[in-house]
Amino acid sequence: MSASSPSSGPTPLDFEKIKANSDGSYTGMIRSGISEALTSNPYFAAGGGLMLLGTGLALARQGLVKSSGFIYRRMLVDLEIPSKDKSYLWFLEWMSQYKHRSSRHLSVETNFVQHDNGSISTKFSLVPGPGKHFIKYKGAYMLVNRERSGKLLDMTSGTPFETVTLTTLYSDRHVFNDLLLEAKQLALKAREGKTVLYTSWGPEWRPFGQPRKKRMIESVILDENVADGIVNDVKDFLSSGDWYHKRGIPYRRGYLLYGPPGSGKTSFIQALAGELDYNICILNLSENNLTDDRLNHLMNHIPERSILLLEDIDAAFNKREQSEEKGYTSGVTFSGLLNALDGVASAEECITFMTTNHPEKLDPALLRPGRVDYKVLVDNATDFQVKQMFLRFYENEEEMCELFMEKFRQLNLGKVSTAQLQGLFVYNKRDPESAIRMIESLKNPNTVF
Ligand SMILES: Nc1ncnc2c1ncn2[C@@H]1O[C@H](COP(=O)(O)OP(=O)(O)OP(=O)(O)O)[C@@H](O)[C@H]1O
Ligand SMILES: [Mg+2]
Repeated sequence: MSASSPSSGPTPLDFEKIKANSDGSYTGMIRSGISEALTSNPYFAAGGGLMLLGTGLALARQGLVKSSGFIYRRMLVDLEIPSKDKSYLWFLEWMSQYKHRSSRHLSVETNFVQHDNGSISTKFSLVPGPGKHFIKYKGAYMLVNRERSGKLLDMTSGTPFETVTLTTLYSDRHVFNDLLLEAKQLALKAREGKTVLYTSWGPEWRPFGQPRKKRMIESVILDENVADGIVNDVKDFLSSGDWYHKRGIPYRRGYLLYGPPGSGKTSFIQALAGELDYNICILNLSENNLTDDRLNHLMNHIPERSILLLEDIDAAFNKREQSEEKGYTSGVTFSGLLNALDGVASAEECITFMTTNHPEKLDPALLRPGRVDYKVLVDNATDFQVKQMFLRFYENEEEMCELFMEKFRQLNLGKVSTAQLQGLFVYNKRDPESAIRMIESLKNPNTVF
C-alpha cells in the first residue's frame, strides 16, 4: 500500500484555507493552522473525541459520587448505638418483638422467666443478628446495620463490641426518638413491679438472676412504728437533696438494722427498695478476693436508684481476724471499709443499709454519724407483731386470733422470731385451728415443720 494513499495517510494541510480563516497576522495564521490540523486529521479528531468522552465520563462519575455523598449527607441520617450504651439491649429486644421487619440473620437470646408462683420457664427471643435488616417504622423506612468489631472484646462481659447503625431519610429523623423511647418503655415495662438485685462481679455490678417481684412493704411486719420510722426517714432524705448540697454535706445516709436472726431485716430492706422503686446492690464483705481498692471502686459506681446493702457486717471482720491467724488473707480491711463509706462522693443520693445479728461486736468507729445515721433494733416478735402476722395469714379470723394470742401469752414462749411464726402459719395455710394446736412448736426455734 502506498504511503500517499488518501484513505490511509494524513491529509496534507490546506494552506489556502488557513490563510483565508486567519486575519493575516502570524498568530492568526498559527491559530487557524492548529484548528485546521485538528479538524482535518482523522487521528487527532478520533483521539480527541475519545479523550473528551473519557474526561467527560470521569467528571460525570466524580460528580455522581460527590452528589450522592451530598444527597446522602443531605437526605439521610444515621444513628449509631454502641453496645456499651444502655439503649443497645433495649433496641435489640424491641426489634425482636417488632413485626414489620425483614431479617435473614437472627441470633438467639435465651431468657429465664420467673412466674408469680416462683417456677421458671425459658423463653427464646430471636434478635436481629449481625448484618443488614430493613424495617418500616411509623411510615419511615429504615436500614438497621448490626456490626461486630472483630478484634475488640468487652472485657467485662467477654462479648465482642458491637454497634447498631440506623439509617433513615433526613425528613424522618424524628422517628429515632420515638423508637428509642418505645424501646426503653418496653424494657422498663418488663421490669415494672420488680426489684433488680446486683452483686459485685470483678470491678463492676451485675444483675444477679432475673429481676424479682417486689415484696409489698405491708407484708413485713415489724414492731409498732419501726417500719414507718425507717420509711419516713428514707423518704425525707430522698427529698432533701438541695438541703444537703447547699450545706456541702455529702448526700448519703447509712442505716443499721440489728437484731436476732429471722426477724425480717433483709426482707424489710427488699420490700423498702420495692416501695421506693429502687434496686439493691448486695456486697458481701467476707468475700475473699474483695480488696480495699475494689470496694472503693464498687461503692463509687453504684447503679443509679439503688440501695447498697452490706449484710452481716460483723462477720466480715471476725473472719478477717481469723483468717489472718490462719495465714490466708481477706482483702478488705476495717479502715478500707471506713474510707469507702466516707468516700462515696456522688452527686446522686447514696443509701447504705447494714445488717448484723451482733451489734456489740461492731467497732464504734463504724457507728459514728455519717457512717451510720439511723440505727434500729429489729427484734423477736412482740404481741403486736404476732397478732398482725396471724391476721395477715388468716384474714378476718379475729376470734381465732384472740384464742391464739391467749395461748401465746399463757405458754410464755419466750423469744419467738417472726420467721418461726411464718413457718407455723405456712405449714397450716388454711387451718388456723391447727396453728393454735401446734403453737407449742414455737418453743423450739429450730422446729422443722
Ligand atoms: N417481721 C417479719 N414479717 C414478715 N415476715 C418475716 C418477718 N421476719 C421474718 N420473716 C420471714 O422470715 C424469713 C427470714 O427473714 P429475713 O431473712 O428477712 O430475716 P433476717 O432478719 O434478715 O435474718 P438474718 O439476721 O438471719 O439475716 C423470710 O422468709 C421472711 O418472709
Ligand atoms: Mg438477713
